[in-house]
Amino acid sequence: MKKLLCPSMMCADYDALKDCVLKLDTTDIDIYHCDVMDGIFVPNITMGLMDIKTIRKYTNKLIDVHLMIENPSNKIEWFIEAGADIIYIHPEAERYVVKTLATIKDKGKMAGIAINPDTSIESVHEMLNLCDYVLVMSVNPGFTGQKFIDFIKDKILQLIEIKKEKDFKIIIDGGGCKELIEEFKDLDVDGFVLGNKALFHKPQSYHDSINELRSI
Ligand code: DX5
Ligand code: ZN
Repeated sequence: MKKLLCPSMMCADYDALKDCVLKLDTTDIDIYHCDVMDGIFVPNITMGLMDIKTIRKYTNKLIDVHLMIENPSNKIEWFIEAGADIIYIHPEAERYVVKTLATIKDKGKMAGIAINPDTSIESVHEMLNLCDYVLVMSVNPGFTGQKFIDFIKDKILQLIEIKKEKDFKIIIDGGGCKELIEEFKDLDVDGFVLGNKALFHKPQSYHDSINELRSI
């Protein structure tokens, strides 16, 4: 299975973030997924600039930042300086989405939107013209360990249709597990965020978990 595998670093072991990155880096993962929350757009506060800088220090792989913050436009530069390669903003949290996506791309980084379960594909259609990545939220953002919301599958199918004419990658974020990857592996979905069910806090090593997912 050649999909993009993106460990959700809010699930990492923060007693030993450096070791966690060094271990993950020896496995066949693709993108470090960093959940940044402000306690306002979502009811939680998770990773910040210092965590992203630490991850950047120990890997040459891609890092994405999933900005679950209000008005991200004036903070884009901070995340680029911290080492992000891909920046996701939520259209629900930004007044001028297209402008902010263009700014990210002008600065030489890849841009994406993250789409909440409440948000329809119709309402973000124009924005897709500027997206390198689209993060489909299959849970309400804020917490790991939630159940995959079933009706999101329709939105994923809608996006797969639109993708035939546009150039973006689809990543599914929330409730990622082996069964979900099995279900989507033959569809034109590009990757999965891997949280607690798929990768972290399991008895087996990261290496074994990733190999098991790759063998699907
Ligand atoms: C939720 C985050 C997800 C989350 C994924 O707001 O965006 O990245 O950490 O974790 P699981 O896979 O456990 O839902
Ligand atoms: Zn996320």
